[in-house]
Amino acid sequence: MLKDFITIRDLTKEDILHLINQGIGRKNNHIVQPHNKKKIASLFFENSTRTRVSSEAAATNLGYEIIGFSGTEGTSVKKGEPLLDTARMFEGYGAQAIIMRHNLAGAARFVGDNISVPVINAGDGSNGHPTQTMLDLMTIYQKHRSLDGLKIAFVGDLKYGRTVHSLLQAFELFDSEVTLVAPPTLSMPKWRIEQYQEKSGKKIVYANSLEEVIPHMDVLYITRIQRERFPAGAEGDIEFKKVSGRFVLEAKMLKEAKEKLSILHPLPRDKNSIEIHPDVDNTPYAAYFTQAQNGMYMREAIIHSLLHQELKGKVQNRSNSEDLFKDMKVENGQKMGEKLVYRLDTGILIDHLKAGSASHISTLLKLDKIKDKEVVICSNIRSNKLGRKDVLAIHNTHLTPDQLYKVSLLSPEHTINYIENKRVIKKGRTYLPKILKGHLICKNERCISRKEHKEYCKETFIVESQHPLKVHCHYCELMMKGDEIEIDN
Ligand code: NCD
Repeated sequence: MLKDFITIRDLTKEDILHLINQGIGRKNNHIVQPHNKKKIASLFFENSTRTRVSSEAAATNLGYEIIGFSGTEGTSVKKGEPLLDTARMFEGYGAQAIIMRHNLAGAARFVGDNISVPVINAGDGSNGHPTQTMLDLMTIYQKHRSLDGLKIAFVGDLKYGRTVHSLLQAFELFDSEVTLVAPPTLSMPKWRIEQYQEKSGKKIVYANSLEEVIPHMDVLYITRIQRERFPAGAEGDIEFKKVSGRFVLEAKMLKEAKEKLSILHPLPRDKNSIEIHPDVDNTPYAAYFTQAQNGMYMREAIIHSLLHQELKGKVQNRSNSEDLFKDMKVENGQKMGEKLVYRLDTGILIDHLKAGSASHISTLLKLDKIKDKEVVICSNIRSNKLGRKDVLAIHNTHLTPDQLYKVSLLSPEHTINYIENKRVIKKGRTYLPKILKGHLICKNERCISRKEHKEYCKETFIVESQHPLKVHCHYCELMMKGDEIEIDN
């Protein structure tokens, strides 16, 4: 069962449909429960109107009392309190769940992993906004009676807009077509598109203007340019000026729209650079106010379903017990060459390393710290298999697979020979565990696991594939592969 509500990726299609049904049911037959003498914490480290108020109204309607804060002004966050300390206090005061919004990506995941009560992500930086996605889906479903067979365009700030990131994840599970319309500097991150296409087997469609897409769409999902996520100072101002006002929807543009078109917006719209002119509000297409109202019913559904363990969640194959070492056949146990070149009678020979990688691997394995053992690093030597290769010979020691697997980060095609009295007694290759704690640095500067944010959140990555190496950050969901991967020595 799902403990926390952190990302759409954790939900099954059945969970999504269950929540939509619950949300619609609650809207049609709304019941306000008497106070149940229990509390829910609402911790909003970032600005919010709709998400906070509708979440708090939802929890109150379910009978809970709200404790918490709206904005960090007046809290100990201003004194430098670490995020986990703040969250733990509210757990200690008896909160049955924590609903939180934070400016760092992965913040809700980090808290959820470290406290025992359920955590609901009400927006984590520009990463995700899964409760918003659920109310978006409820609105679309109510209007179109299905989430399949639709054409939907995401318009605006697709780079920093967390609502569209989560919504894109949701549409992996449904048979609808997504079109992206954004200024080039605010386009959907490439890795998100790749993930969507890979997981759904569908292709993304691109367009340059609203006019181009309007006649074909069932849903237009317009977003605000997220000014607050641009770089600070003059650089950000210039970037913002280039894109603000780029896509403005006006009523007169809707002449060729399909009759059933619905226009959604997570709101707020920005009056200083309005993206939906108010003359659209009175057209039959405008669904954004209904969408915002649906937020309360959907959040009731989410809080109730999570606390009553009604959400299954995807089964994550994340056990750490998998084999880190796979045996290979020992064909010729007599390692004469090795004996001559490395003089390795007993120890470990790490062979077939990518040329130029041995000294980095030696540092990664902390071999430079082994003072009493002889370590031989051979660089750029001839190899029948690889042309050139590096080799590491470690004398009189037998490191275990969990001490060796890091070799795979830099040289996945290596071989390891355990040598005893000049004979190879075991040969094989190491593999990375499914979950990598440490070792890599998340490339997203706004990820909670980055050291500069001082939240003491250990970098954690899920290994999606080893050849070629592909991982995603457990916290901010960023996918990194091949050369993008930065190793933390
Ligand atoms: C969105 C958010 O905070 O990500 N708003 C919301 O929750 N309704 C979108 C936005 O701020 O533009």
